[in-house]
Order: sequence, then C-alpha cells, then structure tokens
Amino acid sequence: MASTEAQAAFTASTCLTLANGQKIPQLQLGVWEAYDDECYDAVKWALEAGYRGIDSAEWYENEAACGRAIRDSLAAPSTTLTRADVFFTTKLRRNESYAATRDAIRRSLAECALDYIDLYLIHAPFGGPDVRREVYRAVLDAADDGEVKGWGVSNFGVSHLEELLEAFPARPPLVNQLELNPFITQAALVDFCRANGIVLQAYTPLAKARRLAHPVVVAIAEKHARPPADVMVKWGLQEGFVSLPKSVTEARIHANLRGAEHWALDEEDMELLRGLDEHFVTEWDPTDCP
Ligand SMILES: NC(=O)c1ccc[n+]([C@@H]2O[C@H](COP(=O)([O-])OP(=O)(O)OC[C@H]3O[C@@H](n4cnc5c(N)ncnc54)[C@H](OP(=O)(O)O)[C@@H]3O)[C@@H](O)[C@H]2O)c1
Repeated sequence: MASTEAQAAFTASTCLTLANGQKIPQLQLGVWEAYDDECYDAVKWALEAGYRGIDSAEWYENEAACGRAIRDSLAAPSTTLTRADVFFTTKLRRNESYAATRDAIRRSLAECALDYIDLYLIHAPFGGPDVRREVYRAVLDAADDGEVKGWGVSNFGVSHLEELLEAFPARPPLVNQLELNPFITQAALVDFCRANGIVLQAYTPLAKARRLAHPVVVAIAEKHARPPADVMVKWGLQEGFVSLPKSVTEARIHANLRGAEHWALDEEDMELLRGLDEHFVTEWDPTDCP
C-alpha cells in the first residue's frame, strides 16, 4: 500500500512498475461501452487532460477508435507526446488455442495501428487449464516477438493463477485486472496477487456510479470537500491498484484525474471504505470458473 504522502503527491504521470520493469500509469481511462466517435473523443480528451493510459479490449470493439485517437493526438502539432508516453492495453476476447491467440493479437495490432501493444491481457479464465496454458504461452511468445510489451490476465482467481505460476514459473502474469472498489474488495485474491508480485488493476472503480450516494462515501467526500467519485477512485489508488475509471463525458474525464491529485484519504477513511465490501458484482465474476 502506498503511503499517504506518496498518494497526496499523485499526479497524472504517477506510474507503478511491473515485474518486467515496465512503467504503468496508475490512473488510466477505461473505454468499455464507448464506441466509434464517442470513444475517439473520450481518448483524445483524456490524453489532453493528462491521462497516459487507455484500457480497451477486443470485446469492446473500439481498438480502432482508440488507436486513431492516440495516433492523432501524437501527430498534433502542439503535442510533445510520443508513442512511448502512451500506455495502450487490450485484451483477448476468446480463449481457444495457441494459433487463434496469435491471430487475435495480430488483429488487435492491425486495428489499433500503434506498432505494439503495451499490455495484453487474457480477458477471462474460461476454457479450462489446458486452453489457459496454451493461450498464455501464445501471449508470452507475442511478447518475445515484440508485438506486445507486457502480458497479464483479467478476472483470474487464485486457482487459475496457481496454474500459470506452476507452468510458467519464470514468467508469471504481470497484472491481474479485477473488479475492485470499496464495495468489492476481493481481499484473499488481492493478497495472493500482492504476495506474488502481480500488479492489480481495478476495473469498475466507480462501481458504475451505482454507489456514489452511499452514506459512508458521501460522509468521507464531505469531510474532504470532494465529490464521491474522487473517494472511490482514490481508495483504489491508495490500495496500490491501477485504477481505470470510464467516462465519455469531457468534464468527468477531467474531474476523475484532477480529483485524484494533491490529497489523500486517511487510514480511518480507508478502513471505513474497506468495511463497505458486499462483493458487489456489476456484470460478471468468472474468478471461480473451472
Ligand atoms: N476486465 C474486465 O472484465 C472489465 C470489466 C468491466 C470494466 N473493465 C474496464 O474498467 C473500466 C471501468 O469500468 P466500468 O466502465 O464498468 O465502470 P466505472 O468506471 O466504475 O463507471 C463508469 C460509469 O460511471 C460514470 N462516471 C464516470 N465518472 C463519473 C463521475 N465523476 N461522477 C459520476 N459518474 C461518473 C460513467 O458515465 P459517463 O461515461 O456517461 O460519463 C459511467 O456510467 C471499463 O471501461 C473497462 O476499461 C474491465
């Protein structure tokens, strides 16, 4: 967990370090359910606001819009950004086979047209142990071939992670992306990842805006004179997670980043927020699939 001082010093350029040495921006824009021009605009606004990471997926059908927005932002005469300054994540939709995974990665690369993918995740642990190992091996080989720089998983439970740690002891997943916010804390799984050097990414950090009126969140927000959304995002950052708030609204895109800077929750706030856990799953929880 990061210290209160470190979290008060959080800015858009704050990064965590993955086990392969890659720096990963700690706050990134999520773009699920953002399509075409709406997604394009959101990514452009985010980069202008100071975000340096975008979380997409083959499933979201917006890799092309993300890539176009990133490329246009990098080409803008006013920018000093280069490709190396932007961290682009995408994810495998279907776990099928080694060959299908290599094909899917090349398709994603063609869609985003960004030369390489910074982080490639297996979106979910479906398919059983043999398929998971084959698919993971394909992702590692894509990393060896320079198609992706970092590799990881999403929605993997402890048993799925143990499988990969046993089969690939020298190259464990760098990241596990999970549903994480004060209303779903997944403590045992988080502890397992931490103990194995796997960085956690918090998806749905705002609980899809469905818990912003909760009295504890509101009370902590009022104590710090901040909107409730800031409290939700800040909790994940202070847990040491990468946070992926999604918005297609320009003002909220700005607010979610600026609202993470130059302040911190105290330990009492953090404990109160942890106490809200109700395993609140907004869409799916495949962490215990076979
Ligand atoms: N790996 C996975 O299985 C998985 C699953 C789910 C999500 N994800 C990733 O995590 C990202 C975030 O998760 P999410 O999209 O489910 O939910 P979220 O970020 O928790 O919430 C997004 C919702 O909150 C609203 N919102 C954003 N900022 C707000 C603010 N400051 N005040 C009030 N409302 C606000 C957004 O509205 P507007 O957009 O209208 O502003 C949107 O309706 C996704 O986009 C995706 O990248 C990954």
